[in-house]
Amino acid sequence: VNHLLGIKYITEDDIQLIFETADHFKEVINRPIKKVPSLRDITIANLFFENSTRTRLSFELAEKRLSADVINFSAASSSVKKGETLIDTVNNILSMKVDMVVMRHPNPGAGVFLSKHIKASIINAGDGAHEHPTQALLDTYSIRERLGEVSGKKVVIVGDILHSRVALSNIFALQKLGAEVKVCGPKTLIPKHIESLGVGYESNLRKALEWCDVANMLRVQNERMDISYFPTTREYTQQYGVNKKLLDSLSKEIVVMHPGPINRGVEITSDVADSSQAIILDQVQNGVAIRMAVLYLLASKINRNIE
Ligand code: CP
Repeated sequence: VNHLLGIKYITEDDIQLIFETADHFKEVINRPIKKVPSLRDITIANLFFENSTRTRLSFELAEKRLSADVINFSAASSSVKKGETLIDTVNNILSMKVDMVVMRHPNPGAGVFLSKHIKASIINAGDGAHEHPTQALLDTYSIRERLGEVSGKKVVIVGDILHSRVALSNIFALQKLGAEVKVCGPKTLIPKHIESLGVGYESNLRKALEWCDVANMLRVQNERMDISYFPTTREYTQQYGVNKKLLDSLSKEIVVMHPGPINRGVEITSDVADSSQAIILDQVQNGVAIRMAVLYLLASKINRNIE
């Protein structure tokens, strides 16, 4: 059985194949008839143990565009609340003949753990502060779309790196595709081992933005935050928030990204988020094609014939 548990476990060739497949599906979903029959004999369970808007809806739409049968599970309204374990929950769902599982979970490594205990193909839709592989794929795909290629580009990831699965998956994906990566943010929100990942650290936002081609502005994850990590929100915004005045004062125009959801006015102001320099909604749009590609390629390894 094949899984997508993290970018760490896949190769540059895998990523390029996902991109080429996504190019095809992007063209398909721009047609008047957006649906193809590729996964019509596949059943997919979307298991969300943590809140989501973009990832959950994007996977569901991708699955429906591929004609899969889809069931959705939200922990908040499930028997998890009565004490049922993760493995019992998933095995009960799989007994209904489910082929693939898309799972978001607050615990790092939840997907890897599950993959050792169940037979279905698993896609990690975000596991705690560990990885969010499809986010990194859609982010790097969006850089490729805007700048022609990822190789050779300089990308700075700004903000709460410590709690960010988006940062870790992006670092792996960007490096595999030949980009140079730096992180920027308060020292208390930067993992101690960051340099062992081959990533530079810049404490000064202006210097980081002058250096880069692309700035990926992360959300401040208040829900994972210990107060001792964090300057006040006002201090954070003063030092690490991007606004139009700062971008306009740089020597070149950079591309601005954000994985969403945005804390408007904290890590990014509305005049940047809604500007043509930002590709935030392109990222969301590309998420559907990327997830179609991942689902299609993994399903092709299940023992069946696909069209
Ligand atoms: N970017 C992202 O994962 O958003 P959601 O939490 O809304 O899925």
